[in-house]
Amino acid sequence: MQFSSNVAQLQPSATLALAARARQLKAEGVPVIDLSAGEPQYPAPRFAGQAAIDAIAAGKTGYPPTPGLPELRAAIAGYLEQTTASERVDPASVIVSAGVKQALFNCCYALFGPGDEVLIPAPFWPSYTTIVELAGATPVIVDTSWDEGFVTDVDRLETARTERTRGLFLNSPGNPTGAVYDLERLTAIMEWADRHGIWVLSDEIYRRIGFVDSVPSVYDVPVPDRTVLLDGVSKAFCMPGFRIGYAVGPAELIKKASDLQGQTTSGAVGPSQAAAAAALGMSEEREAFVSDLVSILSRLRRTGLAGLRDIDALDVRPPDGAIYFYVRLRDSSRSSMDVAEDLLREQAVASVPGEPFGSPGHLRFNFAVQPETLDEGIARLATHFNA
Ligand SMILES: Cc1ncc(COP(=O)(O)O)c(C=O)c1O
Repeated sequence: MQFSSNVAQLQPSATLALAARARQLKAEGVPVIDLSAGEPQYPAPRFAGQAAIDAIAAGKTGYPPTPGLPELRAAIAGYLEQTTASERVDPASVIVSAGVKQALFNCCYALFGPGDEVLIPAPFWPSYTTIVELAGATPVIVDTSWDEGFVTDVDRLETARTERTRGLFLNSPGNPTGAVYDLERLTAIMEWADRHGIWVLSDEIYRRIGFVDSVPSVYDVPVPDRTVLLDGVSKAFCMPGFRIGYAVGPAELIKKASDLQGQTTSGAVGPSQAAAAAALGMSEEREAFVSDLVSILSRLRRTGLAGLRDIDALDVRPPDGAIYFYVRLRDSSRSSMDVAEDLLREQAVASVPGEPFGSPGHLRFNFAVQPETLDEGIARLATHFNA
């Protein structure tokens, strides 16, 4: 079939495809250990779910305002004021979308187009390159290294910069590596971007899932005009199926992103927005939930790392944040795609290979699963690699 040039480059999401394949095998009765999906295998906060139920029971089922329910936009602004150094966030600078994915798409589509270059440090979440391409712009990959902890710096960015550079993606803690940008590095990058008129799109969806002293937000440094913060409830609040994410940026951009959303999907699902407003707005319950989750994840991270370190075929680096182990394959004679295939076929363990993240030779495992699932997964990895 002949498709338009709009989607000529479009590849399906590799991570979603792998998760779907693992689900399919499970449905066929194969005892799959699924460490591929990028989601915490833990339930959403009850108080958030209840808020969605209450909204439906109260008949709040009409079209929500396109940029989001006022109470959710206010809750997001309040959440940022409470959890970053920012003292005042205007609810008008917030757009609510169907996940970070849509918020990011809206902003990229509004900001970038043909001839524009957008810098993306690798390894990266695969949707970044695809979304930039859908906007007609060109992703420019800036490699980072294992030895330097998978973070970039101003020197490397400056080397990649041309007069066409219009944007930079940051993702800290990062998917797939868990790398965290400390305040000094983040400040230097923000100042560099500001000097050159470059938009910074900071995806902070894992910000609350940190295993180091601090995980700074772009809202912890003086925020230049061309800054967009992206976050949502899919990870730290275990609410990926609610499909709520948001972007915070200059009101003019948010208005344009909202106009775009108004012509495509309209406002995000109303009861989901009510749930997100509770998750973010009920600060005491919210902080208790996040703190419990991070304790659980810290334990999983510790036991998982101990198990992985016993597997000689893998180089292991402790992630500073997020929910993944990103391991390096010592044997470079086979592609990580092939190794991931073997793991699924021979051990029924689903992982994600490094190729879609722009860094072949690695495998990503989600450790935000139940403890027995992680234990069994690591045991199968040991059987596979130590055989
Ligand atoms: C870095 C990153 N950003 C955004 C998302 C998607 O978030 P949402 O569920 O809000 O669309 C993911 C999900 O895996 C992610 O890893």
